[in-house]
Amino acid sequence: MHREAAYHFFNPRNVGDADEPRFAGRAASLTCGAHVRFSIQVDENHGISQARFRAAGCSDLVAAASLLTEQVIGLTTPEAATITQEPVGIDPQCARLAREALLDAIRDFSNAARDDWAGDEALICTCFFVSERTIEHEIQAHGLTTVTEVSKACNAGAGCGSCHQLIQEIIDTELCT
Ligand code: FES
Repeated sequence: MHREAAYHFFNPRNVGDADEPRFAGRAASLTCGAHVRFSIQVDENHGISQARFRAAGCSDLVAAASLLTEQVIGLTTPEAATITQEPVGIDPQCARLAREALLDAIRDFSNAARDDWAGDEALICTCFFVSERTIEHEIQAHGLTTVTEVSKACNAGAGCGSCHQLIQEIIDTELCT
């Protein structure tokens, strides 16, 4: 195992649960039975102030989750959701499992933030603060027909992905009118 990865296995950082209010996510491997839970605390600017994990699996999974907690603290939720950097010396499948659990926790936050939104316009993408009206405008102005096209046009959906179903419903409605 790579030196930094080995360090995180023998000295795992941020083990446990983030303080309340926290948002949690899980991921499991059907292949090896490993599972990991991520929890995050997010500030009013959508910055991740705490990231913690619990893992039952191999040394690579523990190291991947520990490394990831250190990487994402201080990032905004969309920044953390789009991390693509592969950790050196760690099984890519373990790294992917840790990222899936993190993404699940970010989606938990995004869904809660959307539910709590009290602005005038319905908020669809909480990662990038994109309203329903803006998405409708982009679809009408540019003839967009897919979620990917909407993401390219106005960023909606380009973070954690928790809004994809909602964007698809707006597209479907626009296509029917
Ligand atoms: S809410 Fe995260 S990408 Fe839209």
